[in-house]
Amino acid sequence: MNQGPLLFFGVLATFSASWYGLVVAPRLQLGDLSPQGSTNDIGVVTYVPAERAGAARQGAEIYRAQGCTECHTQQVRPASEGSDLARGWGQRRSVARDYVFEAPAIPGFSRLGPDLANYGERLGTNAFPLVRLYNPRLLTNNAASLCPGAPYLFEVSRTKDRGVSPTALALSGAAALKGGSQLVPTLKAEQLAAYLVSLRQSVELPEAALPKKEEAP
Ligand code: HEC
Repeated sequence: MNQGPLLFFGVLATFSASWYGLVVAPRLQLGDLSPQGSTNDIGVVTYVPAERAGAARQGAEIYRAQGCTECHTQQVRPASEGSDLARGWGQRRSVARDYVFEAPAIPGFSRLGPDLANYGERLGTNAFPLVRLYNPRLLTNNAASLCPGAPYLFEVSRTKDRGVSPTALALSGAAALKGGSQLVPTLKAEQLAAYLVSLRQSVELPEAALPKKEEAP
């Protein structure tokens, strides 16, 4: 008996099912996601998430190129699936809408270091410590850090030749450079820092509520 048609339709059904499951179904679920708009008291509409601009946008490329994702995720799991919220890595869980402007999204796969999805919010009003990018072990109480840093994103220059740079790192103790030398962050270091400051997932979305604040009695 000729089994050709059966084989043909079997193979067609197999490929159609995987095309539906891997392409069509995700498109139907997530394809139309857009930023969430909200209007404040004076009628100004803001959208969350917002597209990154300027230095932070370029910093995202550097973050990817440096392989920071080998150890850092950007995906806060709900309380039922891990202790991310209890560790203070986020104020709410991450949802697909958080990544609408990420191309590609980098939720990451390994968590040797802390999750960075909401790192900018953790920094608060503090400036990003650029010394962290140079060598995280130089930070206070961080001598055993496993974070590798990226010293090649900094340049040593002589103040005699270049003048004193306003962005030069203030290094002290054993890390201090010889007199007359300074350690200056390159544009890439500044862009990567701007990207890290821009990492925020702290505004409530319809599908990801922020925890209710306790009312004062
Ligand atoms: C080998 C794994 C590893 C890699 C690769 C790595 N990190 Fe880290 N990172 C860590 C660990 C572990 C910590 C926690 C210790 C510390 O604070 O230094 C950390 C901490 C951090 C923190 C502070 C987080 C917080 O919550 O305070 C930032 C910011 C950071 N890393 C940025 C980066 C950037 C940017 C890169 C890429 C240039 C990078 N890391 C690459 C392991 C890594």
